Amino acid sequence: MEKFIINGGRPLHGSVHISGAKNAAVAILPAVLLADSPCVIENLPQISDVKTLLTSLSELGAGVRIINKSTVEIDPRHAASFIVTKEMAQGMRASSYFLGALLGRFCKARVAPPGGCDFGVRPIDQHIKGFEALGTRVIIENGMVDARAASLHGASIYLDVVSVGATINIMLAAVKARGLTVIENAAREPHIVDLANFLNSMGADIMGAGTGVIKIRGVEKLSGTQYSIIPDQIEAGTYMVAAAATGGDVTVENVTPKHLESIIAKLIETGAVIEEFDEAVRVRMPGRPRACKVKTLPHPGFPTDMQPQISTLLSIADGTSIVTEGVWDNRFRYVEQLTLMGADIQVDGKTAVITGVEHLKSAPVRAVDLRAGAAMIIAGLMAPGETVIEDISHIDRGYELITEKFSSLGADIKRVNDYGAPAAKFA
Ligand code: EPU
Repeated sequence: MEKFIINGGRPLHGSVHISGAKNAAVAILPAVLLADSPCVIENLPQISDVKTLLTSLSELGAGVRIINKSTVEIDPRHAASFIVTKEMAQGMRASSYFLGALLGRFCKARVAPPGGCDFGVRPIDQHIKGFEALGTRVIIENGMVDARAASLHGASIYLDVVSVGATINIMLAAVKARGLTVIENAAREPHIVDLANFLNSMGADIMGAGTGVIKIRGVEKLSGTQYSIIPDQIEAGTYMVAAAATGGDVTVENVTPKHLESIIAKLIETGAVIEEFDEAVRVRMPGRPRACKVKTLPHPGFPTDMQPQISTLLSIADGTSIVTEGVWDNRFRYVEQLTLMGADIQVDGKTAVITGVEHLKSAPVRAVDLRAGAAMIIAGLMAPGETVIEDISHIDRGYELITEKFSSLGADIKRVNDYGAPAAKFA
């Protein structure tokens, strides 16, 4: 098992290049199965979730050719299997997108239930409700979700909760269905818009992505395309918060500032100084951060995937902060790790009360999930002395070359194996 060792207590300085968005990539890769000719996908992040999906596509029969580190050509023409096993899904949430994509392609799909980070119960009832409205029979048997339709037809679907996954899965299943599908109370995240743009570039007819009502008029066929994935909003936000939390001065490059509005607004409340450019944002923190209130919400609200990182920053703020989790039932599992580093945080249900301390202290901690792991790195960079982070495979699921990127900002961070030797960088 590999670990990160961080010698913290120094401000981050410099600029960092943001990679393609994980949560767009993991929707777009399964969507390639809907095309009748090869697709070239650019700006793919080098993260383990992408590697897992590329392996799954190849096991389904698609041709996968790596063109360079962030570009891949996928030829879906010979994909013949509609089964995604537990081994192929490897505990990823995004494996559920094969349900929509395979249904759209073959009118049948058999997929192991999705895994992913543990935030309490993660139901897929809204995905199933959508598939059923499109004419699919869904049963769960022998630990697999089995979805079958004689043919798919458009339908009007109202989501009971704003769900990124359900919105994406319904788009994938509906894009070649007969007639018009309307998704109401749809998720509005940038990756929903990116998937719609990708599908439209293949010949789909999708309108309204980015609003609460998405209209999908089914088309007969989708053709291969060349498409570049948007920058990762959460990776950008993570480096922005790390800059502020260490009292640094960092420019995050290759970003879409519009996607970062809620994060920028909250950082300004904490006292950070932000400069926005066309495709970059500079973050400086001139003094001790100020306490504030944060509530996570679906986009355009403050993203739940930034909640552990901002709470870590607030752990050294002047005053008491209130952080309310508005998306997941249980996204405070990392708090126990942060208190090992001296943070003063009381959690009651979906609310954390954070009483700012002057400094965090280095300690051995664990990455309990992907974004919690990013938060532990930020905490390690804030705390003087040596912090060791275990269970870092969670972090590799979603952050490209994270030790290299933080090192380029002046951080002392290294990846070591069980014997303390430097480990090969993740690629
Ligand atoms: N929900 C239901 N029923 C459903 C689906 C969702 O009740 O059928 C509930 C969930 O329990 C949750 C809420 O709806 O309370 C939102 O869940 P959503 O479906 O939007 O989440 P997801 O699609 O499973 C994606 C991201 C997560 C991110 C959430 C919310 C991907 C692969 N994952 O998950 O990202 O937290 O949206 O924005 O896109 C991460 O990147 O670290 C990550 C966890």
